[in-house]
Amino acid sequence: MGKLEGKIALVTGGNSGIGLATAKRFVNEGAHVFITGRRERELAAAVKEIARRVTGVQGDTSNLGDLDRLCAQIKQEKGRLDVVFANAGAAQYASFGEITWSSSRATTSAPTILE
Ligand SMILES: NC(=O)c1ccc[n+]([C@@H]2O[C@H](COP(=O)([O-])OP(=O)(O)OC[C@H]3O[C@@H](n4cnc5c(N)ncnc54)[C@H](OP(=O)(O)O)[C@@H]3O)[C@@H](O)[C@H]2O)c1
Repeated sequence: MGKLEGKIALVTGGNSGIGLATAKRFVNEGAHVFITGRRERELAAAVKEIARRVTGVQGDTSNLGDLDRLCAQIKQEKGRLDVVFANAGAAQYASFGEITWSSSRATTSAPTILE
């Protein structure tokens, strides 16, 4: 029996890299996984690659409307969410004086997901 048997998981930024690898592992451990990403083609390809117990939801994690839609879909389809991997992100290098509030919020609205 897998470690995540019957669990419902969300992996933001699950259409490539660490997120995609994690989503595959979660599925192999028995979870149903929702994956997100902004690029529809990559998202469809990732869903095809994972192949089972996966739902792709296109969206931007910095967009509160997209997060509301995502949470509503998970609630409607599964009724609950057991695991969140807030993985979506990208590296932007800047010195302390150049970092702005908007740049630091470019990819995450995690508190909204957890509400
Ligand atoms: N690789 C490293 O060495 C390393 C080191 C430290 C931290 N990290 C962090 O680990 C995470 C994954 O890294 P990775 O190397 O796997 O990067 P990656 O291959 O570039 O994957 C990033 C994922 O996040 C998604 N994404 C980015 N911005 C998004 C947004 N606003 N809304 C929704 N999805 C978004 C991308 O899909 P779309 O472009 O389709 O949206 C993609 O699926 C990132 O947060 C990264 O900063 C990585």
